[in-house]
Amino acid sequence: MPNPTSKLINVETHILSQQMLHPGASGDFTGLLNDIAFSCKIIAKEVSRAGLVDILGATDQVNIQGETVQKLDDYSNDVMLKFVGRRGQVCMLASEEMDDPVYMTSKNGSDKYIVVFDPLDGSSNIDANVSIGTIFSIYQRISRKGKPTEEDLLQPGRDLVAAGYVIYGSSTMLVYTTGAGVHGFTLDPTIGEFLLSHPDIKTPFDSGTYSVNEGRYNGWSPEIKEIVNSFKTGRAGKDLKGLGARYIGSLVADFHRNLLYGGIFMYPASESAPDGKLRLLYEAAPMAMIVENAGGYASTGYMPISDVIPEKLHQRIPLFIGSRNSVLWVEKQLTEKSKGI
Ligand code: AHG
Ligand code: MN
Ligand code: MN
Repeated sequence: MPNPTSKLINVETHILSQQMLHPGASGDFTGLLNDIAFSCKIIAKEVSRAGLVDILGATDQVNIQGETVQKLDDYSNDVMLKFVGRRGQVCMLASEEMDDPVYMTSKNGSDKYIVVFDPLDGSSNIDANVSIGTIFSIYQRISRKGKPTEEDLLQPGRDLVAAGYVIYGSSTMLVYTTGAGVHGFTLDPTIGEFLLSHPDIKTPFDSGTYSVNEGRYNGWSPEIKEIVNSFKTGRAGKDLKGLGARYIGSLVADFHRNLLYGGIFMYPASESAPDGKLRLLYEAAPMAMIVENAGGYASTGYMPISDVIPEKLHQRIPLFIGSRNSVLWVEKQLTEKSKGI
């Protein structure tokens, strides 16, 4: 009888194995990913009991996005600030919930990584107990030493060294990539460990589902309206029959379902949101790295998300992401229409 625990691989062990793939990667990187996983375990505990303690609801603050800050947004941001980079390997932290980055300098640390994160994604769903998540991305600094520069922060997703998210849902799952496949871990609360449950995730090339907030329909361009209608009627490309519609309103939850089952998630530009709603640096770019490493694709509608060079921390960007064939089809439609084809 094989030992039932012989297959248990926790995320710390897996990250170490990933480190072996990157010659010259020091324990710094492994320690950083483990600090992020640790932070999300703490957030997961608070999320699971949010209804029991006075942490539901909104604060009286409005963030730089112009959105009311939820108490759990604040709490999650504080946890990330407290535990991520405490080993001196991080020189800068940037968050959806902070106007500007936080600089960290350590006497004997390597100061070589930058972490950009959305501490809690899908905040509007917290009080309704709908799945929410944390999104993180890791860059290496470009500047040599000292205070990091704007260039260190405004790097394209193509230069990410790692990206991942944790989804706080019916179970808590951590999904991450360092560029060598996408791997999923499910939190076993009885032992407090993220255990490998979804090794080497590959996303279907074709969609069965489209995800978009159709309430924004009137604000879309004619081209976007036609594309979404094509998904409904099955006119969308020869191999795209009519798709099912699924929309949760938490990017992490919509993305995770599409990653596993196949699907295309869209947050297009609209009259009220000319650059779309989602943020490039801490939502679109990390998700683009993950989906590309799972065989999918992420586009602005005209070019790869991963090639966009950010101009500012909280920059928004239209996002089409998921099954490769579906996203490429959308990009082809929009590009041809822009050329009058
Ligand atoms: P956040 O809670 O971090 O601000 O993100 C919310 C985002 C994203 O999670 C989701 O896809 C999108 O908002 C939903 O927007 P709509 O409610 O406009 O559909
Ligand atoms: Mn978000
Ligand atoms: Mn958020």
